[in-house]
Amino acid sequence: MSATSVAEWLEREQADFVARHPRSRALFQAGEKHYLYGAPMHWMRRWAGGFPLYAARASGARLWCADGFEYIDFCLGDTGAMCGHAAAPVTAAVSAQLQRGATLMLPTEDAEWVGAELARRFGLPYWGFTTSATDANRAAIRIARMVTGRDVVLVFNGCYHGSVEEAHVGLAAGKMAMRSGVHPNAVDHARVSRVVEFNDLPALEAALEPRDVALVLAEPCMTNYGMIEAQPGFLDALRELTRHTGTLLLYDETHTWSAGPGGYSGRDRLNPDLFTIGKAIGGGVPVGLYGVSEAVAERLWQRSPRESVRPGVRQSSHMGFGGTLAGSALQVAAVRAVLAEVLTPASFARMIALANDLAVRSRALVAAHRLPWFIAQSGARVEPMLAISAPRTASELARTRDAAIETLLHLYLLNRGILITPFHSMLLMCPATQPHDVGGYLEAFSGFCEALSAAHAVTESS
Ligand SMILES: Cc1ncc(COP(=O)(O)O)c(C=O)c1O
Repeated sequence: MSATSVAEWLEREQADFVARHPRSRALFQAGEKHYLYGAPMHWMRRWAGGFPLYAARASGARLWCADGFEYIDFCLGDTGAMCGHAAAPVTAAVSAQLQRGATLMLPTEDAEWVGAELARRFGLPYWGFTTSATDANRAAIRIARMVTGRDVVLVFNGCYHGSVEEAHVGLAAGKMAMRSGVHPNAVDHARVSRVVEFNDLPALEAALEPRDVALVLAEPCMTNYGMIEAQPGFLDALRELTRHTGTLLLYDETHTWSAGPGGYSGRDRLNPDLFTIGKAIGGGVPVGLYGVSEAVAERLWQRSPRESVRPGVRQSSHMGFGGTLAGSALQVAAVRAVLAEVLTPASFARMIALANDLAVRSRALVAAHRLPWFIAQSGARVEPMLAISAPRTASELARTRDAAIETLLHLYLLNRGILITPFHSMLLMCPATQPHDVGGYLEAFSGFCEALSAAHAVTESS
């Protein structure tokens, strides 16, 4: 398809979006007077359309904007709302806890149930709360450095693990470089970070060989640069190599929890040394969690002993992680409601079945229209990507991505009442997602495929 026809189509969709959303546009323009980048968080302006929709309300898998339109929401707050918006059990538990006291610097009885359930689902025995996934990763990195005495953190090209300094790196022409748009913040990345391509075992082996890496920080399936699945055997080799070189392995399952009730770690018994999760686990309340294995806990207790109760002695123990609102009564009540009543095994089964259906039928559509798209799936998460086959690395995927066509897809769907994540093209199911929501998406996607292949045909014949 020629650049001109994409540009013209984009212009038509843009004009339609602007015409339909005068209120959102006015609110964003007003926001520019008070917010550095127009909205309360700068990522919010990254939606296709030039300004974000302003949300009036959201419930289950639906959202209504300030201009009165209804949307089927597959973005779900970029995973923060995988419970579905305003999930009744979370709303009830959080409202009740707000009335009993939100943050006390004291544990509540819910903590016992939650700790046991986290261990049961994800397979790690010891846990700590933070207020975001970013912060859980920062805590886990610090623990890894404390127990290994090493400084380097290894990540995979194309990763995102929150605003974690060590992870703001990628590969440019095969060399480590800062991710574009991120200031190095006085961190010596050459000393503390290392980066290799996902699924590249020889590169991984070479990077771990100096035995100076404290931690490999990874997702078991990469989700932040399109979706990149581990090749068969890669995760086993990663586990083996990290053990062999005395390196700790951390799985960040903030997004890949979509794979099932225990994420990949629980489902496939991945046995990481550390584990982090955030976003959906708080059901909308800001929560991050880090878990550690028995062996890591033992090593940590050698440096910072566990026994705190000695008569007449109050422990002073900042340790460099934790926070005033972390582990609050409110957070713990929210996580209990999420685990006990919302993201249950039965909910995951339903969500994954819907995602299977969406993926299979999307594949049939792109095949019928002979479009060069690959449809990836990780449990309840699906992603259409401009790539003819499953990409193995972020560099491979980067070669096939086309920003203009992706923007077009996003805007086309927005104009037809469908929200997908703005940063790439992820669609996520929640317990409230219905078969007719999937049907609504497929109808819009089918229209997009048809128009795209017709435009291709025109370009080819002219
Ligand atoms: C895998 C992963 N880890 C961590 C984070 C950070 O989450 P938060 O911004 O809630 O701290 C993200 C955010 O997108 C993520 O995708």
